Amino acid sequence: MISSSSDLLAKPFLRWAGGKTWLIKHLIKVKESSFNNYFEPFLGGAATYFYLQPNGHAYLSDLNSDLIETYQAVKKDARAVIRVLETFANTEEDYYKIREREYKSSVKRAAKFIYLNQTSFNGIYRVNLKGVYNVPYGFRKKGFLDRENLLNVQSSLKNASIETSDFFNISKQIKRCDLVFLDPPYTVSHNNNGFIKYNEKIFSLDDQIRLSQLIDIIKRKGAYYILTNAAHATIDNIFEKGDKKLILNRASLIGGVNSKRGQTNEFVFTNTVL
Ligand SMILES: C[S@@+](CC[C@H](N)C(=O)[O-])C[C@H]1O[C@@H](n2cnc3c(N)ncnc32)[C@H](O)[C@@H]1O
Repeated sequence: MISSSSDLLAKPFLRWAGGKTWLIKHLIKVKESSFNNYFEPFLGGAATYFYLQPNGHAYLSDLNSDLIETYQAVKKDARAVIRVLETFANTEEDYYKIREREYKSSVKRAAKFIYLNQTSFNGIYRVNLKGVYNVPYGFRKKGFLDRENLLNVQSSLKNASIETSDFFNISKQIKRCDLVFLDPPYTVSHNNNGFIKYNEKIFSLDDQIRLSQLIDIIKRKGAYYILTNAAHATIDNIFEKGDKKLILNRASLIGGVNSKRGQTNEFVFTNTVL
């Protein structure tokens, strides 16, 4: 479902761990296919949403409330967020001053979130045990404010509802021929048995199993899903449902079920075109 040309200009405005910009070249057929509403319950940087620009209603959500508040503020009034960003400077002194500030207004909190994300050391959202963001300054030369893109993001979000929520809560809203894009945090890292930590809270194996149950619901409703996950035997066991399974490498598509697994391989499970 092709969108209007003005919407196509929007791109991710945040650096986000696990960002799916590398995946979009594999989603050309999905973009051309027709589906009704669109769900992305592990939104992060929203690379897939901005690429697909679905025409129907978009249900966008994530458990990270600071992230979601930022999307909501940009959707409501990107110009107001831009005006606050224009008062910030990309210096070490400003960075630590702004990092300490506690703003009452959601517009200012959104500007702070974007600024820290763009000027910090690695753009990873990391908080300490008290929930305080503690990533150091990044000494990055790149500008932190892309006015035009923030305005494009605002217009691309006009048909979206944006919520802080656990992924399973979308289950009641999904209907026949909807598309659900699922990009959960990794629980097991690629090619070893180590469990990895993501954000404040670990996405546990139980969460992966709940996700598998959500996929069963999606299928029962006659809707479509695309799931990306670490190429790991544990994940394979949980999500093997007789649907299509691809093993994708960040550089190229390297084939089906029996292909070799490298360090950066990911599984994509889907019951739609890919
Ligand atoms: C791999 S990232 C998504 C990356 C995104 N596709 C992109 O292109 O940037 C996973 C996201 O899941 C969120 N998350 C973790 N646990 C969650 C849960 N139980 N429900 C919903 N979102 C969750 C994290 O906050 C994080 O933003």
